[in-house]
Amino acid sequence: MASSTFTKTAPHVSAELQEELPKTPIQVKGTIPSWLSGTFVRNGPVTVTVDGKKNDHWFDGLAMLHAFTFDQEQVTYTNRFLRTQAYQTVFEEGSLHYLGFAVDPCKSLFKRLFTWFIPQSKLKIANANINVAKLDEQLVALYEVHLPVKFDPETLETLGVLDYQDELPKEQCWTSAHPHYDAKRKETINYLIEFGRNSFYTFYRIADGSNKREPITKIPVEEPSYMHSFAVTQNYLILTTFPLVVRPILLALQWKPFIKNFKWEPERGTEFIVIDRKSGKIIQRAKTKPFFAFHHINAFEEGQTIHLDIVAYPDAEVITSDFFYQNVVDKPNFPIRTAIERFSLQLPAGTIRYETLFEQTAELPRVHPALDGLPYRYAYLAGEDTLAPHVDFNSLYKVDTKTKTAKQWKADECHPGEPIFIASPNAVEEDDGIVITIVLEPKKKKSFLLMLDAKEWREIARAEVPLAIPLGLHGQFFNL
Ligand code: CO
Repeated sequence: MASSTFTKTAPHVSAELQEELPKTPIQVKGTIPSWLSGTFVRNGPVTVTVDGKKNDHWFDGLAMLHAFTFDQEQVTYTNRFLRTQAYQTVFEEGSLHYLGFAVDPCKSLFKRLFTWFIPQSKLKIANANINVAKLDEQLVALYEVHLPVKFDPETLETLGVLDYQDELPKEQCWTSAHPHYDAKRKETINYLIEFGRNSFYTFYRIADGSNKREPITKIPVEEPSYMHSFAVTQNYLILTTFPLVVRPILLALQWKPFIKNFKWEPERGTEFIVIDRKSGKIIQRAKTKPFFAFHHINAFEEGQTIHLDIVAYPDAEVITSDFFYQNVVDKPNFPIRTAIERFSLQLPAGTIRYETLFEQTAELPRVHPALDGLPYRYAYLAGEDTLAPHVDFNSLYKVDTKTKTAKQWKADECHPGEPIFIASPNAVEEDDGIVITIVLEPKKKKSFLLMLDAKEWREIARAEVPLAIPLGLHGQFFNL
């Protein structure tokens, strides 16, 4: 199969990465562990330009999947756009007026009024550019609107939506692209925010091999919060509701981009809602200082205390400011600082203590996948190098939450993405394994797959990709 071209594309349309490579062997420098077998798939937005105008918000770039397949110390690379409604609008209609997170709903979208922030029909394919997961025995790309988009793990071809066979809403709702998978209980957990006259946070579970969302609990909420992820522990689900809230009616009446309807109201504080996983009952609501976050790193119980480790921002400016409205590829300078904070919630009193575990700005946190919801020690993140006024994201960190120290990997003119931990088959300690990520070298207009020894935090292998992969979001390693 030849690399595909955009024969239908109008000449005034371009993308920061337009080439799609079918499965291509790539050269490895160093040594890939012989036990490593499987595919690492990463998702992320690709900025597009129509008539000299870019899609406004980084989050609204077109979903592109990248796959690295490991087999007997060899690596192949494949990349492909998801064939979504947005893809069609851009490449076939030559227009940027597709539905998005922050796309300006112009007058041509007037008819779509109530549905501009979600696909009009449940079977239309959303621009699922955030994450990937395995659901109902299939690989899917995830976004914050339904429905998941199925793709072929070999070719990355788009296979349509995963249409849930159940009664929960598929429209006029928002969801998280960070579901939790519980290998012990053999289930995936996620939530919906149902917007309407009455709005709800609705948690559900999906049993392995099923495409039914079974409700766990439905929590009424007047002004829902914008949330990107949530936490689980052995016994609880924890929703961290930031004071970035919306009056649902505004989503119907205003023509603003989805996220611009949300208001930062710090006086509300941030509230943790703790739900019993078995009964679905709320067992605690506890407020702490106002902050915002995309990512929960992990959470776990210690007696009657729930510890929640979160990449915290002092406010929601990161999402409401103009930062993401720029093309971040050439200058990924993060104007806002983060810190890893540990919030420790005492049951049943509801008191909360918090402390900083890591002070430098970092994002895209990952932990050992088998320790989700359990006591753990190490978090892996991409982050800044120094405390310069403009942050240079050229580092990868292994944060030891116990000693509050970190190991750093860095390279000049390099921008690493989300570091994904893969345990070695005979692992004894938590950090016995490797970490893989995609690193962008903007000046060289190239990217490479980087592999670190997780314990030593040093490079063991890299494999150069023949193109520049834009900074992306989340990925997963699948043993297919
Ligand atoms: Co995320």
